[in-house]
Amino acid sequence: VRIVSGLQSSGSLHLGNWFGAVRQLVRLQDSGEAFDFVADLHALTTVRDGQRARALTFETAAGLLALGIDPARTALFRQSDVPEVLELYWILGTVVPLSHLERAHAYKDKLARGLAKGFGLFAYPVLMAADILLYGADLVPVGKDQIQHVEFARDWATRFNVAHVPGYDPQDPLGAAGHPPGILRLPEFRVDPDTAVLPGIDGQKMSRSYGNAIELFADEREVRRRIQSIKTDSTPVEAGKPVEGSALYELLRAVAPASEFAAIDRSWREGGIGYGAYKEELAGFFFAAFGEARRRYVGIAADPAEVERILQAGARRAREAAAQTIAAVRRAVGL
Ligand code: ADP
Ligand code: TRP
Repeated sequence: VRIVSGLQSSGSLHLGNWFGAVRQLVRLQDSGEAFDFVADLHALTTVRDGQRARALTFETAAGLLALGIDPARTALFRQSDVPEVLELYWILGTVVPLSHLERAHAYKDKLARGLAKGFGLFAYPVLMAADILLYGADLVPVGKDQIQHVEFARDWATRFNVAHVPGYDPQDPLGAAGHPPGILRLPEFRVDPDTAVLPGIDGQKMSRSYGNAIELFADEREVRRRIQSIKTDSTPVEAGKPVEGSALYELLRAVAPASEFAAIDRSWREGGIGYGAYKEELAGFFFAAFGEARRRYVGIAADPAEVERILQAGARRAREAAAQTIAAVRRAVGL
C-alpha cells in the first residue's frame, strides 16, 4: 500500500499534529510505501514572509525526523520540490464542482476565524487532492478535520476517471471485473479514533493558526507557560471535575501513559486535586513523552545540510512516483 500525508509548514509542529497525524505516520512506516511531505505550497495561504516560510519548512522537516520519520523507510520531501503536483492540481480542478469547495468545512472554519476569503484558501482542497492522487495513495492518515478533504479527493478521482478513461466503471475502480482501471487511484482516510481531534489550550481544536497550540519543540518555559494557560472552569479543588468539554482532561488522556491515566481519571471524577496540580502533571508527562524527540531535534536542527540532503533524496523518490501518474493523466486529457 501507498501511504501519503502532508503537514503544513504554516507554524511549528504541535501536540495535535502528533496525536492526529504524525504518530500514525511513524507507526505505519513498515506497513507500506510512505510518502510524507512538508506542505509548503499550502502554507503560502497564510505565511506572507519568504524568510519565515523557508524557516518553517525546515523546522517542520526537522521535527518530523526528530519524531521518528525515518528517511530510509519514508520518502520525506518538500511539496514544492515536486512541481508535477501543480500540473495535476490544475487538471483536476477542471472536474471539481464549485459547490464542493463552497461547503468545505476547513474553508468555512477559516473564514469563521476571520481569515479573508481568498482563492488560495478556496482552492486548498484541490491542491491537497492533487497531493494525494499524484502518488497513488491508498491510505491517507490524518486528523478528523481532514476527512472531508480526503473524501473530496476520492470523489474527484472518480469524476476524472469517468471523464477520461473510456469504459471506466466507478463500481469497479481497479478493473477487477474486467473494466479498464482508473488512472487515478481512490484513497481512503485513516483517523486515529483515540485522538481524532485534540483540543488546544482554549478548548477549540488545537491548530497553529488559532494561537492555541502546545508546540512540541518550543523551549521548556514556553511549554510550561502554555500548559499553565489551559482554560479551566471554576470547579473547586475538593469537587469532582466535569469531563465533558475539558481541554485539560483530554490533553491528559492523550499525553499520559494509559497505565497512569487510570488513576488520574479516578481522582478527576472524585475530586480533591486542583486544576493547577493536574497542569503540573501534564507538563511532567509532556516532557517524559517528548524529551527524547526534543533532544534529537536539537541535533537535527544543528545540521541543516543533512536535512536538505534528506529532503532532496525524498523528492527524487516522490518525483519517480509522480512521473508515472502525470504521464498517464496528460495522455488521457489530450495534452
Ligand atoms: P494545523 O491545523 O495546526 O494548521 P495542519 O493543518 O498542518 O495543522 O495539520 C497536519 C495534520 O495534523 C493533519 O492531518 C491534521 O488533521 C492533523 N491535526 C492538526 N491539528 C489537529 C488536532 N487538533 N487534532 C487532531 N489532529 C490534528
Ligand atoms: N491539508 C492538510 C492539513 O492542513 C495538510 C495536507 C496537505 C495534507 N496535503 C495533504 C494531508 C495531503 C494529507 C494528504 O492538515
